[in-house]
Amino acid sequence: MPRIGRAPFDWGALRAARPLSPEEIEERAKELLSRMTLREKIGQMCGDTPLLTGTVEMLLAYNYRPIPAGRNRRLGIPPLSFTDGPRGVVMYRSTCFPVSMARGATWDPELEARVGDAIGVEARSQGANCYAGVCVNLLRHPAWGRAQETYGEDPYHVGTMAAALVRGVQRHVMACVKHFAANSIENSRFRVNVRLTERALREVYLPHFRRCVDEGVAAVMSAYNRVNGAYCAENRHLLRDVLKGEWGFAGLVMSDFFYGVHDGRAALEAGLDLEMPFAMHFGRRLEEMVRRGEVPEALVDEAVLRILRQKIRFAQVGEPGRYRPDAVAGPEHRALAREVARKAIVLLKNEPLADWGDPLLPFDPRRVRRLGVIGRLAAIPNTGDTGSSKVRPPYVVTPLEGLRAAARCEVLYDPGSRIRSALALARRCDAVLIVVGLTHHDEGEYMPFPRKGGDRTRLALRDEDEELIRAVAQSNPHTAVVLMGGGPILCERWREEVPALLMAWYPGMEGGHALADILFGSSAPSGKLPCVFPRAEEHLPFFDPYADEIEYGLFHGYRLLEKEGHRPAFPFGFGLSYTTFACSQMGVEPERALGPEGVVRVSVQVRNEGLHPGEEVVQVYVGYPESRVERPVKELKAFRKVALAPKEARRVELLLPVREWAYYDEARRAWTVEPGRYEIWVGRHALDEAMLRAEVQVLQAR
Ligand code: BGC
Repeated sequence: MPRIGRAPFDWGALRAARPLSPEEIEERAKELLSRMTLREKIGQMCGDTPLLTGTVEMLLAYNYRPIPAGRNRRLGIPPLSFTDGPRGVVMYRSTCFPVSMARGATWDPELEARVGDAIGVEARSQGANCYAGVCVNLLRHPAWGRAQETYGEDPYHVGTMAAALVRGVQRHVMACVKHFAANSIENSRFRVNVRLTERALREVYLPHFRRCVDEGVAAVMSAYNRVNGAYCAENRHLLRDVLKGEWGFAGLVMSDFFYGVHDGRAALEAGLDLEMPFAMHFGRRLEEMVRRGEVPEALVDEAVLRILRQKIRFAQVGEPGRYRPDAVAGPEHRALAREVARKAIVLLKNEPLADWGDPLLPFDPRRVRRLGVIGRLAAIPNTGDTGSSKVRPPYVVTPLEGLRAAARCEVLYDPGSRIRSALALARRCDAVLIVVGLTHHDEGEYMPFPRKGGDRTRLALRDEDEELIRAVAQSNPHTAVVLMGGGPILCERWREEVPALLMAWYPGMEGGHALADILFGSSAPSGKLPCVFPRAEEHLPFFDPYADEIEYGLFHGYRLLEKEGHRPAFPFGFGLSYTTFACSQMGVEPERALGPEGVVRVSVQVRNEGLHPGEEVVQVYVGYPESRVERPVKELKAFRKVALAPKEARRVELLLPVREWAYYDEARRAWTVEPGRYEIWVGRHALDEAMLRAEVQVLQAR
């Protein structure tokens, strides 16, 4: 057992020792704290990067190396070594996975945990011990510039995917979930005040953070924006009352970078533990405040204990032997990046062609002997934003490269910048693929210095892309469109004119290969939309990228559209395959009534009705027909992805704890499960016409 005597704390011995219990970690952290001077304690609470030289380095190559916080040589305390994400490790030359929104479209938490494992290994192999790529802010509106960094619009789905990432990452390093909370506007992110009721906060904007806390996440990053008047890093209600109080979060809270803290004292009092990446408020200024007696040292001790606890906890974690330079962007992780990109692609449309009688996809080499690839994004690397989430992979396979590598036909290419030349090419081909959509020029993290990124200014494609699609589809009816981007794109002006449409998101360094896997049919599409694709901007909640003040309500996304009776272009959870699936024989147990602490067991038979192997996502929604308060028509409460061989059928079982049907009662300041009738819907997406329905009765609590 490691002993703390006069000698420096032996971190190496910690690794070799049997895992310490939380009580033992606590004891050790306290022992260490008792040996620290005030200055040393405060040294734990801020980034180690020098302001001037650090800024220059970050401007030149952001987070190319780990960003350290709290190294203490006298006591041998290692720094927290930060790397950003979420589409991989931002440092050095790491694997670039598809963005989180794409991974959200896989609806596959086991796969996401494998991504987390790979990211954890790459982070640690390159000297980091904290990965801040668990971004769970809800996609409230598709214009949000950082849509790509989160998993979607639904708290249950986002929480499930994020918890899986945390699980994978924390086999190796600490994970940090961000940005706490209600951060979903870029342009005014440093100042906007998001007003929301306690109910909207609890029901809509916090559950996915809670899910990560329950998963044991080591760190939480506060957001830039204000919530109900207070900046998030200084928001006592969010940090002390809810996160650390009610949820019992034992980890550390770090600020968002550069502009994250405005008032050091308020932040400390509110529950911020670590200021990143420089010591602007928590350095000398805080030390002086404590010395002058303006701030109790007990608050400093509490923050330092939280940091030491996680450093000790993670000194024991890991799988020795896996942290090697060649693990980074090695064959295994590249194969995983390709698998994820493939499973993220959503087939939105694939109608039978008039002349073939069959759908256009997958391309049949007997019919497609010459394929035309057209479009601005067909032959450029397009992996997403270039802000703090930018990963620098060793290479990127573009759609054109991927198609050429896999094609058993001739592939011709035209960038689509001149319609006449694109049409000439389209006419010579048996089928055409148009690749268009968004890049980091259209959406991304807002950076004031130098100015770049920000929220989207339009939800549709550029006019020239729309014109290109319409013109090409007219001259060659065998035209498929592939969209790239971080979130929903309005397609109303051309959707009816093409027989096939796919959403590929920002598919990462292996994206071109993944696209070819799907288009040529070596794999069937299995991605499902993690956010509704609306028909019109008017169907969405109010959004103002320059707002100083904005109100977030209970409804956005599919919940809002369904409540208002707006049909979407493509529903939440929707995605086709090359085969079809049917759900039948729904079973619910208990059949009639149960108490608010009960668990409903839903089972259903899923059958692959076609001749192609494929994967389907069984989705369970719950409705509240008898509720006394305003609630969504229905909302996602469970899902499961199943792989089925042709004609195979399998029974799937899902568990629904009734307490997750509660609403937040502001008067009682408590979660409340109303007694009464609840609807349970099982289907393949939120508006599945073949949805199966059952009812259960929840009894009054005894
Ligand atoms: C972003 C965070 C990021 C941090 C450190 C900030 O600008 O908002 O998401 O983790 O920089 O890179």
